[in-house]
Amino acid sequence: MTQAISNRIRELIEHIRQHEYNYHILDEPTIGDSQYDELLIELKALEAEFPKYCDLNSPTQRVGSKPDSGFKEVIHSRPMLSLDNIFHLDEYRQFVDRLNERLKNSSVIEFTVEPKLDGLALSVRYESGELVSAATRGDGQVGENVTKNVRTIRSIPLTLNGSYFPKVLEVRGEVIMKKLDFYKMNERLGLAGEKTFVNPRNAAAGSLRQLDPIVAATRPLSFYAYGIGEVSEDVGTSHSEVMQVLKNFGIPVNPGMVNGSPERIQAAYTETFKLRDSLPYEIDGMVVKVNQLYLQEQLGYLAKAPRFAAAWKFPAQEASTSLIGVDIQVGRTGAITPVARLEPVFVGGVTISKASLHNFDEVRRLDVRPGDRVMVRRAGDVIPQVIRVMVNQRTVPVGPVEPPSKCPVCHSPVERSEGEVVIRCSGGLICQAQRLERLKHFVSRKAMNIVGVGEKLLENLIEKQWIKTPADLYRLTEDSLESLDRMAKKSAQNVMKSIAASKKTKLSRFIFALGIRDVGEATARSLVRAFSDLNQLSQASLDELMTVEDVGLVVASNVRVFFDLDHNLRVIQQLIDCGVCWDVQSISPDINELDLSGQVWVLTGTLRSMSRDEASERLRALGAKVSGSLSTKTSVLVSGPNSGTKLAKAKELGLKIVDETALLEIFRL
Ligand code: IVH
Repeated sequence: MTQAISNRIRELIEHIRQHEYNYHILDEPTIGDSQYDELLIELKALEAEFPKYCDLNSPTQRVGSKPDSGFKEVIHSRPMLSLDNIFHLDEYRQFVDRLNERLKNSSVIEFTVEPKLDGLALSVRYESGELVSAATRGDGQVGENVTKNVRTIRSIPLTLNGSYFPKVLEVRGEVIMKKLDFYKMNERLGLAGEKTFVNPRNAAAGSLRQLDPIVAATRPLSFYAYGIGEVSEDVGTSHSEVMQVLKNFGIPVNPGMVNGSPERIQAAYTETFKLRDSLPYEIDGMVVKVNQLYLQEQLGYLAKAPRFAAAWKFPAQEASTSLIGVDIQVGRTGAITPVARLEPVFVGGVTISKASLHNFDEVRRLDVRPGDRVMVRRAGDVIPQVIRVMVNQRTVPVGPVEPPSKCPVCHSPVERSEGEVVIRCSGGLICQAQRLERLKHFVSRKAMNIVGVGEKLLENLIEKQWIKTPADLYRLTEDSLESLDRMAKKSAQNVMKSIAASKKTKLSRFIFALGIRDVGEATARSLVRAFSDLNQLSQASLDELMTVEDVGLVVASNVRVFFDLDHNLRVIQQLIDCGVCWDVQSISPDINELDLSGQVWVLTGTLRSMSRDEASERLRALGAKVSGSLSTKTSVLVSGPNSGTKLAKAKELGLKIVDETALLEIFRL
């Protein structure tokens, strides 16, 4: 039994040391903060219960880790301590009670609370108002001299504001990298082919401890003070007062400080937790402090941390776990994305079992393989992400994850457009994953223009499994439509009418409606101009396709892939069998989208198929101006039933008058 305990203690010490080395020296943590805390808590508990196994050099007995060898050492005149952690409300209450008990309730404690910035501690020493040196925390006793780098941080004043300064003022605070600066910097490093950082904290640490100050100067670091170290004279009687003095000296101080009763502090903790994701920097909790400095002194210090302050942590946003496998997801637009299936892990306040891998370039970059230990991160509402793979912990040889050659849903080949990292399923019309988007496109105004069939109805029809391909739209019956919720007889009739009306179309619209990747309206028209019919187009070779105006290799191969797939040809045949047809004349080379620019249209009376607003919008989309009143400048009056005086006036003026059917004809052109 005792052997097992001493073994466990040794194992924990070894693990913790390794993690401290990874975190402090390599800036590459392999476990999340909370997992590190758990190991430490377990070790502390064992050491407390079995003190004879407690080693002087155990990680529980000291602060931080040894400094890197690249910088000169700085001995802190007052140790840079750490903070004890609080994870739950009851621990917070115990903390408050403990302090009151220690002070024997002799004074009313005022508390302050401020965000715990997630960066690294820095001490900046001013002598008579001039910055003379700056040091990292290191192991708390001995830090690294990073003065040259710190001089490049713009928000840290080199000389203090004002006219009277203490002879010595050591300001302590946190060096951080703001989220936006982090993203921009990583992008820049990535483009330059340099190593990127996994999170803002590592970026801040890596940048501050960058041996070349010229490089450090290019890193967007920020600093916020949260306290003082050595001072030659008192600068205030409370923490909040000291912070105000620092502020007056021109030093950026930790923002968002609140003081008051324990209840007020608790409320501030909750409020800030809610705001966490909207803050410009990462915070990993709140630091609660006794405000009165004389009470701080009375309460004193433990070996590693002061008694008068504690870090009330938020749930960690990063954790390590195992990757079970890589699933492949097909999005609504056919984008095929790899998704990491994970051993469930608690991160950012929830248990996650999936994380995004973005695309297959990212899979290759991360070199992520089933069975790997991975670091996942969940910051805010964003989908959890795999940010790093612990490649050196790979035990079983597993090959890399390759992108699929076929869509996992419909088995069509996948395609990748030039300049895009995303791979897509080419099975557009038949792929279940893309059904809704494809159908929405098919019925849209510039495609088959099926008025009255919108997203809601399509969703309903797909759910009922009445439509799978566009051809199924033409097989709907009025009775089945009428049986849908909230579908009145009249609406069902209107839908049937517009479906029927859409059958007569133009070839360019039909081709556009097929949703061939990268084939927009203009390309569809170019294709129609070049090939006299659909048959010819479907059989055109890559070379022939590339002779068409605006058609390069990418579009040509997308067209070829589309017509090479039997299921696409089957859907086209079904549409033709259902009566979809196009005017041979529409193949004439000079078809153009109807252009109404320069014309002024006026609408009057009621329209049956759409509202006047919608009709106006559509007319405007074709270039027309839509006016509310008639004049000699009016080009056309659209007149529905109950049109009142406008119709008579238009007749009087000899204007062109059309009805709703003619308007619909125009929209269909
Ligand atoms: S007060 C005696 N206030 O958290 C130590 N620390 O986990 C006094 N930190 O080493 C620290 N924000 O680097 C304090 N508002 C804040 C802080 C803060 C971040 C860091 C600090 C410290 C670590 C302890």
